[in-house]
Amino acid sequence: MKIARFSRVGFILAAAGSAVGLGNIWKFPYITGENGGGAFVLVYLVTVLMVGFSIMIAEMLIGYLGRRDGVGSFEAIAPRNKDLWKYAGFMGLAGLFIMVFYSVVIGWIFHYIVVTFTGLPSSVSEAETLFNTMLKEDISTQLFYHTVAFLLITSIVTRGIKGGIERLNLFLMPILFLIVGGMFLYALTLDGFSQAWAFMFEPDWSKLDSDSFVTAVGHAFFTLSLGMGAILTYSASLPKNSDLVKSALIVVALDTGIALVSGLMLFTFLFQYGAEPSAGPGLVFISLPAVFYEMGALGNFFALMFFIALAFAGLTSAVSLVEPMVQYLIDRFNMSRFKASLSMGLFFYLFGIVALLSNTTEFSEALTFGSKNFFDWVDFLTASIMLPLGGLIMAIFVGHVMEKERLESVLRPHFGPFFDLWYFSLRYIAPIALFVVMLNLIGVLEL
Ligand code: PHE
Repeated sequence: MKIARFSRVGFILAAAGSAVGLGNIWKFPYITGENGGGAFVLVYLVTVLMVGFSIMIAEMLIGYLGRRDGVGSFEAIAPRNKDLWKYAGFMGLAGLFIMVFYSVVIGWIFHYIVVTFTGLPSSVSEAETLFNTMLKEDISTQLFYHTVAFLLITSIVTRGIKGGIERLNLFLMPILFLIVGGMFLYALTLDGFSQAWAFMFEPDWSKLDSDSFVTAVGHAFFTLSLGMGAILTYSASLPKNSDLVKSALIVVALDTGIALVSGLMLFTFLFQYGAEPSAGPGLVFISLPAVFYEMGALGNFFALMFFIALAFAGLTSAVSLVEPMVQYLIDRFNMSRFKASLSMGLFFYLFGIVALLSNTTEFSEALTFGSKNFFDWVDFLTASIMLPLGGLIMAIFVGHVMEKERLESVLRPHFGPFFDLWYFSLRYIAPIALFVVMLNLIGVLEL
């Protein structure tokens, strides 16, 4: 079987493209807002550093040594019980589930790119009406843009790792960095910046309950693209003699950097114009457009740039969410890339329609189960349960099942003495942290 290889830069940008996504620019600011700021950010940062980074390396290692799709890689490198371990590779399915809501949100972003041309809402209440009408009443607009997202994403995946995914990232990621960086520099000049800084970095522990704790840890996984085999699948196409440690460091740094920078920028704009940080998922679709309107012509330009950056972030992550199962179908069943991409695309497209409908007034009742509608369930089940569980499995596999000598021979040359620290954190800290999350989850779900 021949796998096309990434170039070194191509891999870093593709992995960073996977990590930097809607999670950073859409989700991180609004969950930070909902969970009271500082304390939440701190739990998230500690998790990224102590758990996320270790598991990122573990996940890269599985793909790098396995050189196949997730299922094949686990099977190839498990020292024993190969038949059992291969099932761990099916965590790739979580990516398709994430795509179910991800594609719908990318659709909203496309719609908002058009809105920046047709006219931004002139007040928060107008923005609220605009967003809620789209969300709750306007099925055809959402369906149209969800279809565009599906076609675009599927056609890129059809072109493969080199011609599709690597090229997409080489092109989009630098533009994304420029836009976010430029807008951040502008935010630095505003008075609202110090308020934004205080909101994000001064922890108020009274605001943190077990619910926020689970969200923060879950988000650390989600934002780093861990626990479902996206990073694993990309790593299977790494060039030989790659430095996994350096790659993981760069990817984690870029992802965390973009989240913090876009959070600070967004909250600066919101505070500067007196909007609330706790608006929920509509934050960048409601409060922000109204704020951009207030800014005048510059705001209009910013709005366009912002939604383009958001679309780019979303697309480069989306392809990584679909690729693992596509690679599986190709490796295992010799399916053509076209057929594999199309069938996986149709999966998230069709369930995406259900997710989209579950937000509408007309269908919300039929599509709400217990406390959440279908859309929110998919988000919750993937980010808070499947990814941490996938991470736990990888930590146990690499930390306790694989032979230490094998890990050492690949990583020690790059890690030096820090190898032991990494190994310890992977074996003990990561599983314990993830276990605590699972326990907390029981409380959150009121089981
Ligand atoms: N990391 C992406 C984001 O922050 C989402 C993602 C999760 C992508 C898991 C791939 C795998 O939006």
